[in-house]
Amino acid sequence: MELLYMTSLVLLLFAVGCCNGQNAPAISGEIVGLVGKNITFTTTINGRDFGNFISISWRCKRNVDIAIVTYVPNGKYTASTYEGRLSLNTNNGELNITQLTTKDSGNYSLNMVTATGLSYTGVITLNVLERVSNQVRCSSCPVWMLILCLSFTWT
Ligand SMILES: *[C@@H]1O[C@H](CO)[C@@H](O)[C@H](O)[C@H]1NC(C)=O
Ligand SMILES: *[C@@H]1O[C@H](CO)[C@@H](O)[C@H](O)[C@H]1NC(C)=O
Ligand SMILES: *[C@@H]1O[C@H](CO)[C@@H](O)[C@H](O)[C@H]1NC(C)=O
Repeated sequence: MELLYMTSLVLLLFAVGCCNGQNAPAISGEIVGLVGKNITFTTTINGRDFGNFISISWRCKRNVDIAIVTYVPNGKYTASTYEGRLSLNTNNGELNITQLTTKDSGNYSLNMVTATGLSYTGVITLNVLERVSNQVRCSSCPVWMLILCLSFTWT
């Protein structure tokens, strides 16, 4: 399916969803990842709306804002930089990214619409840290995060 077509369909679905009420954020906060490891963005979706989504879209904002994965019942588009590194649970929007690099750091936003027109959104900040000998390196992390990471077991 053409990306452009999917994008406009998704935008249309969000436009419909937006007017039928908002729910509590499906995801929020900050999370730390390590270069070469995996990360899971767990959503709050369970119960009534689990498995009831007709569109799911994850975007990442770093310097630019890009669509990283877009799901509609007819197909799924994955950005080339995440191809083969990403898995999406289409029942609840949960996203896994493997083989993290520092370039994966950024704000990840989620937009989902159910068959009944309810929309769920949220943003989570991912900071990917790099190990340099016994130090951690992160250009944009707050101090508490660096301290937390120094206490990780490096394997
Ligand atoms: C990361 O995810 C991949 C693919 O799901 C899996 O094969 C691998 O074992 C995972 N690595 C870690 C450290 O969990
Ligand atoms: C990510 O979100 C945080 C918190 O809202 C904000 O301070 C930061 O500037 C955002 N970063 C980018 C790259 O948009
Ligand atoms: C993400 O990874 C976790 C932990 O390895 C796993 O339990 C979960 O099923 C994965 N989810 C997806 C959507 O691949």
